[in-house]
Amino acid sequence: MTHAPHPDNRPDDPASLTQTGRMLRPQTNGCRVAHDLSGVWSFRLDPDDEGRERGWCRGVPEPVPAGVPGSWNEQVPGARDELGPAWYERRFELPPVGDRQVGIRFGSAVYAAEVWLNGERLGEHEGGHLPFMLPCSAALADGENVLVVRVDGRLGRDRVPPGLVPAEHTHGVTFHPDVSFDFFPFAGIHRKVELVATPWLGISGLRLETVLDGAGAALFVQVEAGEGEVTLALDGERITSPHRVERERLWCPQSPRLHLLEVELRRGGTLVDRYTLPVGLRVAGVEGDRLLLNGEPVELRGFGRHEDFPVLGRGTAPAVAARDLLLMRQLGANSFRTAHYPCDEETLDIADRLGLLVIAETPAVGLYFADEDLPRRQELALRFAAELIARDRNRACVIAWSVANEPRMNYPGAAAALGQLCDAARALDGTRPVGYATDLPDSPGVDAADVIFLNAYPGWYKYPARLETAESALGEQLDRIHGQHGKPIVITEFGADAIPGSHADPPALWSEEYQAELIERLIRVAAQRPFVAGTHVWAFADFATAQGTHRPQSINFKGVFTRERQPKLAARRLNILWRNHADR
Ligand code: GCU
Repeated sequence: MTHAPHPDNRPDDPASLTQTGRMLRPQTNGCRVAHDLSGVWSFRLDPDDEGRERGWCRGVPEPVPAGVPGSWNEQVPGARDELGPAWYERRFELPPVGDRQVGIRFGSAVYAAEVWLNGERLGEHEGGHLPFMLPCSAALADGENVLVVRVDGRLGRDRVPPGLVPAEHTHGVTFHPDVSFDFFPFAGIHRKVELVATPWLGISGLRLETVLDGAGAALFVQVEAGEGEVTLALDGERITSPHRVERERLWCPQSPRLHLLEVELRRGGTLVDRYTLPVGLRVAGVEGDRLLLNGEPVELRGFGRHEDFPVLGRGTAPAVAARDLLLMRQLGANSFRTAHYPCDEETLDIADRLGLLVIAETPAVGLYFADEDLPRRQELALRFAAELIARDRNRACVIAWSVANEPRMNYPGAAAALGQLCDAARALDGTRPVGYATDLPDSPGVDAADVIFLNAYPGWYKYPARLETAESALGEQLDRIHGQHGKPIVITEFGADAIPGSHADPPALWSEEYQAELIERLIRVAAQRPFVAGTHVWAFADFATAQGTHRPQSINFKGVFTRERQPKLAARRLNILWRNHADR
């Protein structure tokens, strides 16, 4: 029997349920329900893509068990190079949702997902690493429900990030599977899946902005909600917007103060909806060639970090995120970039709590500006930037947006395309600097960036084994870029591969000693230049790549931690370099 959610059977209000921009993160309280469907699902690969015509949308035949969240590639024996499609099924009993509107929210499914409930098609979503929600009130049944998801992780030029890219449009290295990016194209349901029940015409959007104002700051709160009276409270104190706070209540790495914001909606004096959010008040910006936090120059020390772990693949687990970010803090780091795609929301919860400064990056890695699929890729890159900003705009820890990683720039339209991405991000959120990570800083595209995110590999891809040359080359490059643009520069990637346990004295390529020595020397070069607003070592931990003759064991070994999160020599060296920094 179908579930009748609303007395007058009103259809779900897609605006408040699906529009990413207005999709508040699920939570359970007296007015809302977030029922986690993660756990053991049924799973089946569909290499011949026959599932649809065989009606698997009503139930997946002869499945195997699989864990969600989790990629299937390292989890399901023999499925490493399978990119889909594949089918998931989850049966659940309907929790008490009353007459609320109900949707199913996915934190991330890579790459494209199609969803059915009790055989009824709910909808689809394209693009990984960002959440989507599909209304399902009408399809819900009292008692047992059958949720089926078809996930397609196959590569394509018409996707972002693009795959199967002709060699002339890549870095020129060959991978299997045929990706143009240097990480394994894991596929699957990578983050939480939740059944979400919210009041009709309740609170549908929240937008926060902090502005420095004299000795203090002012918090502006914008609430989108159905008709009724909205009230605000901060740490239990009733407030109105704008609300003034003293400087010492602001959020920063030294003291990542979070305040509990409570938003309530009443109609006719009755509480209709409630939403709470831990918020950090802080202001990020650029002034000349400095990156500012709360009006003061800030220096970023940290890493590029992939969401990658054995067996889980790109599946997220709060325990892994907690270890990674606690290790960063232990080393004296205060920052990371979510390379090369938006990271999990629980990771950002931890970053907010630990005072880590995050450069949040869209999934637009390896963009190139040719062929018939270009308009579609650009449209997707714009959409994913909008989805990322909508999801993370209220985050204290997110201090800048990166709208792409290493786009190929030797095309007439490349600079304009990057300009469009940067302008779009600024239009959506004018409170944070915008840029894109580039290995081609001399291309005109960087004119559109507020901060130059530089990926540079002196001592590895350039001048391998020549430490002194690497130092001077980096110094010259930094001075040249600064001379040209006068903008802050964050070195978003530098480093060297080091096979764990490989040692050499004197330091030699692939040894832990060479990696540690190179990283230390380049950090010292950067430290001599006040316009260098940060150094992010590539990478926090070793991570899986596709197969390539330049990737032993299909692993990028540039991590300062192993894939299992054990320290290499470079981690110890960084601790010595960074431990005396004030904002530890
Ligand atoms: C590039 C790229 C990374 C890659 C790194 C490397 O700069 O952005 O994704 O892993 O180089 O080759 O190690």
